[in-house]
Amino acid sequence: MIEQSLTLPCGHMVPNRLCKSAMTEGLANAHDRATTAHQRLYSTWARGGAAILMSGNIMIDRRYLERAGNVVVEDASGSSALRAWAQAVHEGGSQLWAQISHPGRQCPRLVSLTPLAPSEVQLHAVANFGRPRAAAEADIQDVIQRFANTAALVQEAGLHGVQVHSAHGYLLSQFLSGRTNLRQDQWGGTLANRARLLLEVVRAVRARVGPRYPISVKLNSSDFVKGGFTLDESVQVVQWLNDAGVDLLEVSGGTYEQLEFFKALPEGEVRDSTREREAMFLEYAKSIKAVAGMPIMVTGGFRTLAAMEAALTGGHTDMLGVARPFCLDPDFPKRMFTGQMDRLPVPEDKLVLGSGHWGPNSASNSMRTLNNLCQAAWYYRQIERMGAGQLPVSDLSPLQAMMVHLGKDYYRGFRRKLVAGV
Ligand SMILES: Cc1cc2nc3c(=O)[nH]c(=O)nc-3n(C[C@H](O)[C@H](O)[C@H](O)COP(=O)(O)O)c2cc1C
Repeated sequence: MIEQSLTLPCGHMVPNRLCKSAMTEGLANAHDRATTAHQRLYSTWARGGAAILMSGNIMIDRRYLERAGNVVVEDASGSSALRAWAQAVHEGGSQLWAQISHPGRQCPRLVSLTPLAPSEVQLHAVANFGRPRAAAEADIQDVIQRFANTAALVQEAGLHGVQVHSAHGYLLSQFLSGRTNLRQDQWGGTLANRARLLLEVVRAVRARVGPRYPISVKLNSSDFVKGGFTLDESVQVVQWLNDAGVDLLEVSGGTYEQLEFFKALPEGEVRDSTREREAMFLEYAKSIKAVAGMPIMVTGGFRTLAAMEAALTGGHTDMLGVARPFCLDPDFPKRMFTGQMDRLPVPEDKLVLGSGHWGPNSASNSMRTLNNLCQAAWYYRQIERMGAGQLPVSDLSPLQAMMVHLGKDYYRGFRRKLVAGV
């Protein structure tokens, strides 16, 4: 079933059920434009044969990035680079979709000392994030227009679809959460008010791209933090999205405070558990699937062909999102499709550092973040290698990767300040 095509509500066809989910690349130049490294990386992935390659965060506002090195699309100045990137993917046989995004309070100090958020609720994680300012009405209207504008620009550049990032604690997800959205105006308070921004963004994007262009939304099944967005709320938001013209709903979970989507399941647990347990949000996605009027895509933890097929044939998901295995084995889908492999690489098993206070389950938020940063850096380095035309390497040290990553991150941050004056 994984090789069957799927026609989305807008009429757009995807040739199989596999999507490489978004992974931030950090490969943009000092002017925040796509580069030849994006083309090399994505043609490598395209040769694998996944139907959709979702870009990493493409930011709608150059003042607020998730990390220096993000591609920003806010005017036509980077269009030729975007077109070349899309072309490289088309030639490889896949579709390139743009994940468009605003980080809200999850914008590092290196990019902005005062990020924009629904309310002044600061993210405390390794002192990396400033106290945000609460968005004024004009900021909110600007955000809506920017999402729509970026969507229209990527459509013009030949990308096959667009995804509005409303998960993982980014701006739209912050608006959805009662923990980070303390507003008392029409954008906060009741769930209907907290969901208003997401719904307005989707409507504005649809108005700009027309009825035939695919729009996806990435949504948390739950934030998994006290006082955050819950499964019941997610189920309700999906019902509202049913009327907004969404073609594909990607289901994930967690935020920077609780990096649920980044979890490593110990190998034994995966082996002994039911197949369905492997994909960490599948159980939650069942409640969402029950009300969703659009196809859904569950992402997170799929590592065996058996689990993927079971999720599809069981009717629990229409598409499968996979991310981390692409960093170690970039063209695994073609071997999976031809029956040469039935287990994906599980890089995350090797990357859990330390235990107790130093481990991934430490009571300290900062310690958990540092641990996760080592893991993230490991993937970033593999992505950079592929962008440079090299193969991934399995024996890369996560600690070393983090040191190199931090150095590069600061370099990129200062370079864009110096060169582009951001
Ligand atoms: C290095 C890295 C970068 C990521 N960047 C993004 C991103 O830009 N946008 C996003 O929505 N998710 C991002 N994710 C989350 C993935 O899309 C996915 O939800 C998560 O890795 C779980 O899927 P997996 O278990 O198949 O890896 C990232 C994950 C990794 C490992």
